[in-house]
Amino acid sequence: MNVLVVGANGQIGKMVVEKLQESKQHEVRAMVRKEEQVADFESKGITAKLADLEGSVADIQLTMEGVDAVVFSAGSGGSTGYDKTIMIDLDGAAKTIEAAEKAGVKRFIMVSSIASNHREKWSDDMKPYMAAKHYADQMLEKSDLDYTIFRPGMLKDEPGTGKIQLGKETAIESIPREDVASTIVSALDHSNISRQAFDLISGNTEIKEALNQIG
Ligand SMILES: NC(=O)c1ccc[n+]([C@@H]2O[C@H](COP(=O)([O-])OP(=O)(O)OC[C@H]3O[C@@H](n4cnc5c(N)ncnc54)[C@H](OP(=O)(O)O)[C@@H]3O)[C@@H](O)[C@H]2O)c1
Repeated sequence: MNVLVVGANGQIGKMVVEKLQESKQHEVRAMVRKEEQVADFESKGITAKLADLEGSVADIQLTMEGVDAVVFSAGSGGSTGYDKTIMIDLDGAAKTIEAAEKAGVKRFIMVSSIASNHREKWSDDMKPYMAAKHYADQMLEKSDLDYTIFRPGMLKDEPGTGKIQLGKETAIESIPREDVASTIVSALDHSNISRQAFDLISGNTEIKEALNQIG
């Protein structure tokens, strides 16, 4: 598969790009927003395309030519205001979904957030972010795309264990970013998880096995 990673310069994004580059099955393309990021990826032999999630749908669509699957792992991060939460986590995701539909890309993997599907679990300071994730996911669920939504728990910068818990409703726990990245890469080969959404936290089941277990 030819896979476009949106948010490729981010922490999970970089790991997904690296794992896809190492895999023999997939071609990877990084979507980034700065010229120097394009140069950085290309110096490592990775195709990179320039587009800003605050730009037009048409510009985002241009990065998707010949692409079979989109991974959305972008985010406004914790150091920007709620304006960026709306413009990146919600509108940026919505524009990427629209661009994928227009470009005829079917497969779409979304990195959402645990509890984004449960308003009663949103803490006051997280409400705008959670609402952004919630409505981006709803838009994807209402699309015709062949989507999988992962709602990871709190992200940790520890080495991955290769073992996860995947479920419709897990406890609100944490997971290393590396395990999220490995799950995304493995998910590309699993058509059984199409048009479904899952909580994703650390667990006791090997990633492939956890994905295989889904009916
Ligand atoms: N933190 C948590 O505990 C947690 C929990 C669950 C889910 N999540 C979600 O997990 C995902 C990945 O997290 P992460 O830690 O890997 O994120 P990250 O390191 O903050 O990376 C986010 C990426 O999005 C890119 N981005 C931001 N604005 C953009 C724009 N206008 N156009 C194009 N790209 C833009 C950033 O680009 P630059 O590199 O140029 O800044 C960055 O590379 C995010 O969606 C996050 O919301 C986080």
